[in-house]
Amino acid sequence: MFNNSDYSEFSLGNFTFKRDRYFATVKWPGGEHIISIDDFLRAIMRDVAWDFFYGVVNFDHVVGTCNYYGKVELFAGKYHSQYKKLNRHYSETHELNDIKNVFMLILENWCTANFDPFAAPQETIAPWHDTTEGPNKAIHRKRVVAQRMVGLPGDAKIRRCEEGFPINRHFLDVDQEEPCILAEPGFEKELGGFNLFSYLSRSDVTWNPSVCSVVKDSLFCPTTEEHKLPIIHGNDRVEWFIQLSDEITWNIEDKETGEPLAKITMKPGDVAAMPANIRHQGYSPKRSMLLVWENGSPSIPELIRKGKAPTNPVDF
Ligand code: PHB
Ligand code: FE
Repeated sequence: MFNNSDYSEFSLGNFTFKRDRYFATVKWPGGEHIISIDDFLRAIMRDVAWDFFYGVVNFDHVVGTCNYYGKVELFAGKYHSQYKKLNRHYSETHELNDIKNVFMLILENWCTANFDPFAAPQETIAPWHDTTEGPNKAIHRKRVVAQRMVGLPGDAKIRRCEEGFPINRHFLDVDQEEPCILAEPGFEKELGGFNLFSYLSRSDVTWNPSVCSVVKDSLFCPTTEEHKLPIIHGNDRVEWFIQLSDEITWNIEDKETGEPLAKITMKPGDVAAMPANIRHQGYSPKRSMLLVWENGSPSIPELIRKGKAPTNPVDF
């Protein structure tokens, strides 16, 4: 039987984290905030799996993290106009590994064995059910990070049924044929190609971009999406989205205040550039394929702060 004391309490600096059946409660000096436990676990799962990502990862409109690449700020109300206006916001900056360790301990202690925070809600069991005891394997998955490109010798592998990657129920119609690569002798290790649609049709995670090809700082990070992005991402650089299949609707808000700015629905073939001064959250009614194109250069946030790089990539 479920008992509220089954779950440990955690702290980081002056923040504390507590779980009951349905909720996570985050407290800090001068405030506290309650988040549905499934939303909270899905959000911190992404945050640690991505090493705190680019810029701000809002768990909701109040609590989240900001990545300073080496150090990470944990905040409450810092990107909320009313908390700011009433001076009720609070934040602390910690070493990346310290905050990562606490979030990992929370995931290990709070995720029931059968709850997979990376799965679509229809494909997992909610974390408030009494389920079997035991360690949760889903939370220790390694994110795919190709060095050059998926499928090249020594790099991330193409996905196949035999390796535990069956085709997802929503992608049964996706062509599975791989390209035939005929390299000139001597270029066998340099030339490659793979069927990205087949690769994505076999993804067992949602809202988890994996680095599939790399050219210097240019990172192609395709992902499969279903239900909603479990965080609201506050960009610190321009990001490009290419909708590869199906449909995603994005809510776009001001990065600092959360003021609504735009809603866009992307259909297959649509391309969008998300500016560096917004936050966004995506909604995908059916599993879809999205290519996220990132410029991974560490110098961009500083260039934008100094006004030497624009917050939008094109002026019309
Ligand atoms: C984003 O914030 O840009 C983002 C994050 C995860 C995804 C897709 C987009 O799966
Ligand atoms: Fe983003």
